[in-house]
Parts: sequence; C-alpha cells; structure tokens
Amino acid sequence: MPAKRSSTIPAARSAARTGAAAKSAAGSRRAASTARRAAAANGAGRRLTSQPWLHQKGVELQDFGTVRQFPIGLSHDTRMYSSQRLNRTLADTQILYSLYKKHHWLMRGATFYQLHLLLDKHAGEQLELIDMIAERVQTLGGVAIGDPRHVAEITAIPRPPDGAEEVPAMLSRLLEAHEMILIDAHDAAARAAEQGDDGTNDLFVSNVIRTGEMEAWFLAEHLVDTPLVHA
Ligand SMILES: [Fe+2]
Repeated sequence: MPAKRSSTIPAARSAARTGAAAKSAAGSRRAASTARRAAAANGAGRRLTSQPWLHQKGVELQDFGTVRQFPIGLSHDTRMYSSQRLNRTLADTQILYSLYKKHHWLMRGATFYQLHLLLDKHAGEQLELIDMIAERVQTLGGVAIGDPRHVAEITAIPRPPDGAEEVPAMLSRLLEAHEMILIDAHDAAARAAEQGDDGTNDLFVSNVIRTGEMEAWFLAEHLVDTPLVHA
C-alpha cells in the first residue's frame, strides 16, 4: 500500500506542478493584460474595464443663467439676453405641450375623435419646438431649462385644475396659453433683431410664432358656434 501511495505521489506532484505552472502563466498573462489596460488608461489613471461606473456624483459645470464664450459673432450680453428670453419661452412651451397631452387624454363628447387627434398633432409640433428652442439656448452658450419642476418655477402660464374641464374650457385654456407665448415671442423676436441675433429672431418668427398662430387658428375654429346640419 505505501508503495502504491508513493507511486502516485510523484504523479500528483507533477500534475500539481503542471497546474501551478499553468496558473502561473495565466496569472502572468492576466497581469500583462492588466498592465496593457493600465498603460492604455487615460490620464486620470483609471483602469479600463467593461463594468459601468455606477452611482457617480459630480460638480455642476455651468450655472443656470450663465453663457459660455462661443465664437459665433455675438456679444456676451446679447447671448445672455437671448438665452433668458428663449428659456422663458422654453418653459412656457413645455407647459403648453403638457396641456396639449392632458387635453388629448381627457377629451370627451361628440367631437372626441377629431379633437383627440388634433391635440396630439399640436403636441407633437410643440415638442419639436421645445427641442429647437433648447438647442438654440445651447448654441448661444447657455443652459436650457429641462427639469419640469424648474419649468414650473419659470412659466407664466396658469396651472389648470387637476381634473377634467368642459371641452370649450379646455380649448380656451390652450388658446390663452398660445396667446401668452405669442405676445412674448413677438417682443423677444424684435429685441433679438435689435441686438443683431438673427438666429434667435428667426427661431421666434419662423417657428414659435408661425406654429403658434397656425395652431391657434385650428383651435379657435372649434369654438365657433355654427350649426352642423340646418342653416
Ligand atoms: Fe395618445
């Protein structure tokens, strides 16, 4: 028995040695690979890995209400002024978009289907405007307003009741929001033009005003009390 045992021990030792050598080689390869990744890591000395870096916190890089210096031929004061006007319109437009969706969902009555679809179409157009206005703020070096709780602090459009209103009241509420935005947009467009900010002027005129006027027309026609069958 001891002889048998002794005959197996060298084989086991050999296998163990082979395994250890293999492990050592694998370890060396891993170390070399790690070293290569470390060498390829950026200047911060971070090790490259496929594990996402979760739960990160950082400093605020730019305060709301400030503009960075961008080489677009507009002064700091002009870009600051336009950014403020655009952010106000951005906040109001985000509220108008939300009102359109709310009324799209809460629509009722004989004209439900038509108004349900129309209000969603207008909501989609307002959503496109939101992106255009926000990106104009960024183009000017500013910080676009984004969080809905921040939007609620800035907007001038009154908050509707949380429940459902009668259909004509819903439409009137949308028209009033449109007119508030339009009055402000006309003034902002003129001021932007005075300061030479043609891009902001164009956005207000070609997009905010034109779209708002067209949507207001479509809404207002639904408030004309006209007979459907007998004149
Ligand atoms: Fe919908």
